Amino acid sequence: MPIHDPSAGAAHQADIAPAATPTEPHPHRDRPLRSFVLRAGRLGSGQARALTELGPRYLLPYQPTAADWDAAFARQAPRVLEIGFGMGQATADIAAARPDLDFIGVEVHQPGVGALLREIGERGLTNIRILQHDAVQVLEQMVLPASLAGVHVFFPDPWHKKRHHKRRLIQPPLVDLLASRLQPGGWLHCATDWDDYAQQMLQVLGDCPALTNTAAGFAPRPAMRPLTKFEARGLKLGHGVWDLLFSRSS
Ligand SMILES: C[S@@+](CC[C@H](N)C(=O)[O-])C[C@H]1O[C@@H](n2cnc3c(N)ncnc32)[C@H](O)[C@@H]1O
Repeated sequence: MPIHDPSAGAAHQADIAPAATPTEPHPHRDRPLRSFVLRAGRLGSGQARALTELGPRYLLPYQPTAADWDAAFARQAPRVLEIGFGMGQATADIAAARPDLDFIGVEVHQPGVGALLREIGERGLTNIRILQHDAVQVLEQMVLPASLAGVHVFFPDPWHKKRHHKRRLIQPPLVDLLASRLQPGGWLHCATDWDDYAQQMLQVLGDCPALTNTAAGFAPRPAMRPLTKFEARGLKLGHGVWDLLFSRSS
């Protein structure tokens, strides 16, 4: 699956935050390493239009205080937060299939934000709100403990070189944070197509005392997660895909 690995390839040269690339000294030594590198991706005209026309309605500003999600969605419904929705296709499919749930999509890559806004407009989806910000800070600051029905982390950047593994999202500090934001019984669903990252996820999630594995090891792909185009191609080529479905112990 040709997922973007910020640690590889020429696209990396186009980073708009060059000082934060993994091979150079980090400018903020006192701050943790980020799980992403901002890329200067090209914004399509449809994405730009969606940002202008739909951004004011569906894009929420980051704030360092708890958000009023009932006001943001104009209703009270179980909420699912997704970290790194990419171009948002799976997010839109899931939100369309589950109008009973509200979805908080968090992504730093602007073309992806524009693409999901476009999907929202074209499909008339009312149950998605987007934050274009670091999901770690959103979780820390804007999401109250025990308030989420679910969290989705689909195909996070694998940071496949060993020296970059510290940038991977699924590590004990973030998993503890995620578990704390889930309601008792809430679900954490991760998926990856990188074998060693899948093993790391299984280990780290399994070691979190607040989480329980709902499967014996890896889970079959839950019906809720649509098969993506890239994933289908990867499967055809014989690549593996691993789903992990944990729940917050009460
Ligand atoms: C490999 S892509 C996968 C995208 C999508 N989930 C999919 O399956 O196609 C990982 C995405 O996570 C985003 N990302 C990584 N760390 C993030 C963070 N801390 N906050 C928000 N987005 C993040 C990246 O910008 C990238 O778009």
